[in-house]
Amino acid sequence: MTVGIMGALDVEIAALLEQMPGAHQERHSAFTYHQGKLKGRPVALVRSGVGKVAAAACAQSLMDVFGATRVVFTGLAGALDERLRVGDVVIATELVQHDVDVTAFGYAPGEVPCPGGLVVPTDPALTAMARQAALQTLTIDSGRLREGRILTGDQFVVSREKVFRLREEFQGLAVEMEGAAVAQVCAWRGVPCAVIRAISDTADGQAPVDFRQFQAEVARISAGIVLEMLKLLPL
Ligand code: ADE
Repeated sequence: MTVGIMGALDVEIAALLEQMPGAHQERHSAFTYHQGKLKGRPVALVRSGVGKVAAAACAQSLMDVFGATRVVFTGLAGALDERLRVGDVVIATELVQHDVDVTAFGYAPGEVPCPGGLVVPTDPALTAMARQAALQTLTIDSGRLREGRILTGDQFVVSREKVFRLREEFQGLAVEMEGAAVAQVCAWRGVPCAVIRAISDTADGQAPVDFRQFQAEVARISAGIVLEMLKLLPL
């Protein structure tokens, strides 16, 4: 029952890697997988790199090569919902690829021309566990936790106009660059997936500055939830 844990950047997995001092490292394709135990659970922890292609390939190997029977993505996101602040947490109930456009052939914005290609749900049980874990961590109170749709695309969003458009068109709470890809390959494979994101910026012109300033601190909030979640998983 290996839990696959992914983050896009070093900073997103740092708090977890610190707690796996004797981990066995194995390279596969472009990724280094850290195998060991976290909170007594066998895990494979990996940095996918940024973007949907890297995330999909990384998640696929996590399941097929490293035997992950659950996958949890932890990391940062830009806020789309105007009530979200830096340090708040969004747990995905579903994800959409906001940068997919096959509307010329009658598909909806964001819809990939394949069955179930528009909205990819996360696993309800694993997501409920993430919620419980989030509420149990001391770093956030329930008012700073949201659940709902996260948008994914191969773009770091840095404009108010784009934020308005994404909100209008896709009703997402937050935007990031990997989650929908991971959720999609997990769904195809029948492996439960959860996506947890802490807000690092508000996806406006200030986003790169905020991201640099807050990434390390905020990434730990999301990673802390994963640690708490591992304690809730049946052995
Ligand atoms: N991850 C964190 N902030 C982001 C943003 N503004 N756009 C896309 N991905 C992000």
